[in-house]
Amino acid sequence: MAEVTSSKPRVLSGIQPSGNLTIGNYLGALKQWVEVQKDYDCFYCVVDLHAITAEQDPRELRRKTRESAAIYIAAGIDPEISTVFVQSHVPAHSELAWMLTCMAPLGWLNRMTQFKDKSAKQAQESIGAGLLNYPSLMAADILLYHAELVPVGDDQRQHLEFTRDLAQRFNHLYGETFTLPAVMTPKAGARVMGLDNPTAKMSKSEESENHAVYLLDDLSRARKKIMRAVTDSHREIHFSDERERAGVNNLLTIYQAITGEPREDIEAHFAGKGYGDLKRGVADRVLETLAPLQSRYNDLMNEAGYLDSVLKVGREKAAAIAEETLKLAQKRIGFLAPS
Ligand code: TRP
Repeated sequence: MAEVTSSKPRVLSGIQPSGNLTIGNYLGALKQWVEVQKDYDCFYCVVDLHAITAEQDPRELRRKTRESAAIYIAAGIDPEISTVFVQSHVPAHSELAWMLTCMAPLGWLNRMTQFKDKSAKQAQESIGAGLLNYPSLMAADILLYHAELVPVGDDQRQHLEFTRDLAQRFNHLYGETFTLPAVMTPKAGARVMGLDNPTAKMSKSEESENHAVYLLDDLSRARKKIMRAVTDSHREIHFSDERERAGVNNLLTIYQAITGEPREDIEAHFAGKGYGDLKRGVADRVLETLAPLQSRYNDLMNEAGYLDSVLKVGREKAAAIAEETLKLAQKRIGFLAPS
């Protein structure tokens, strides 16, 4: 078992097991998680407590939780170096989240754009309170580990600000307890958009067939989805911020995120070619990424007991740190320690 304490700065991040992980999750998060794991003390969790802020089928949730953890590893997270665990396996997350919920002003929570967006899609009366309190749980995830850096996409920046504000409030009221985290801005983090609707971020819980390429998609199906991606009626292939050109820009973005080539080289490569060539080029790169990931995934899922043992070690490492922080917070807030 690896050392619990480390002199490297700590990183924590998580993805909800609320759908099938997509190339957007890979290029926007997992790829960076892998790249930073040697330089930081990384904790990567499968945030199942967050997933239940939307209705989940119990069997599916269990299956996707294991699948997500396996994908983290298949994508290159090395459990010998990083800590991979399931959020609900460490009860301290729920316990600290309650304390933070009690300190989180409704005004702050109501201002969260993710809450506004998600709640706008439901009848006001039936919105689960978890959707509103979601950021307090995310704050608990981060603060329990004294994480200094949190790799998240732009859509989560506001939640990180909230985490800092809440940590500061706690520290101010009860004394220094939590470390204030900062956003870790990835070197080349791609924001991948929906293939069928390139002005909306690619989502793992979107039902329509040609919206996303899933990391576990059968390769021929993945290729088909890319070949059907929405483009436009122009001809030139170049990066662009224009709304009309979002589809082509998205394909180029995927290409760039995978190859790491400079934009000019990619544009030069596709100069004078058609959209069919662009899509084929992107599909080839995506398949080159998926094939080894899927083969590692299948290998590790076939190795009896492997994934469970990784999650067990991860739980132990995470719990040791989280429980210590929780105890301190409980003491500071005035809870009587059990004798
Ligand atoms: N809210 C994040 C998302 O939807 C997931 C998440 C939960 C997370 N807890 C976290 C990310 C802690 C970073 C750190 O993307």
